[in-house]
Amino acid sequence: MNKQRKVELIEHQVAGPDPGVVVRSSTRLRRWTAVGSRLARNAAIDMRFGRPLAAVYFRNRDQSNSDYRELRSLFVGRLVKGDVLVDVGCGAGRVINQWLRMGFDGPIFGLEVDTQRAEATRRRLRRRCNVSILTGDAVANLPSDGTVFFLFNPFDELTMRRFSKRILEIADEVGNEITIIYLNCKHLSPFRSDPKFAIEEVSPQHKGTAIGQRSAIITLSKAV
Ligand SMILES: C[S@@+](CC[C@H](N)C(=O)[O-])C[C@H]1O[C@@H](n2cnc3c(N)ncnc32)[C@H](O)[C@@H]1O
Repeated sequence: MNKQRKVELIEHQVAGPDPGVVVRSSTRLRRWTAVGSRLARNAAIDMRFGRPLAAVYFRNRDQSNSDYRELRSLFVGRLVKGDVLVDVGCGAGRVINQWLRMGFDGPIFGLEVDTQRAEATRRRLRRRCNVSILTGDAVANLPSDGTVFFLFNPFDELTMRRFSKRILEIADEVGNEITIIYLNCKHLSPFRSDPKFAIEEVSPQHKGTAIGQRSAIITLSKAV
């Protein structure tokens, strides 16, 4: 070992590890602990409705489940008795679990294009007589009496454009007041391009939730 390397080693032993490295590893540890407790909390709630749902995501990355706390913070104060709730792209049905958990006993629709996923969700929730799972393209299957439509980034921009167009048609036909709750709102331009939609962007920032994903509450008043 040359002399300079020896000096560096001695300096490192005296000074201890780089404080930057310590801070980075404790931040990483905190982050992993938060992820672990979020997964455990979500799994425990899933169990009350049959079985844990996280594995669905590992089988198909397009079918990720939202986080219960994040959902709660988006729904509290925004749902009323008499609403007809629609999860657009319901996947394994965690959003439906959350609505049931909040005591909602009105009509709930889950729309899912993946046949096997839709069948599994329908089977799991078969005893909930207010829940209907419709298999197929959500835009084609949108219930015209829906008042709250939830989306967790299910579509690309093109499909979102079809969705926003269909929502306007439903509003014209039925005249209901409609709220769209859009978690991880990647495609807002179809709504921005029509002044009939009012958009409020929100970020649920609860400790221990996913990431406080960017979300939007989009409303369409009766007078369109
Ligand atoms: C990110 S997952 C969200 C699952 C659930 N809503 C939640 O928040 O836990 C999106 C789901 O939308 C479904 N999906 C994508 N395009 C669809 C379409 N055109 N019609 C119906 N479902 C669709 C996917 O198969 C997937 O299950």
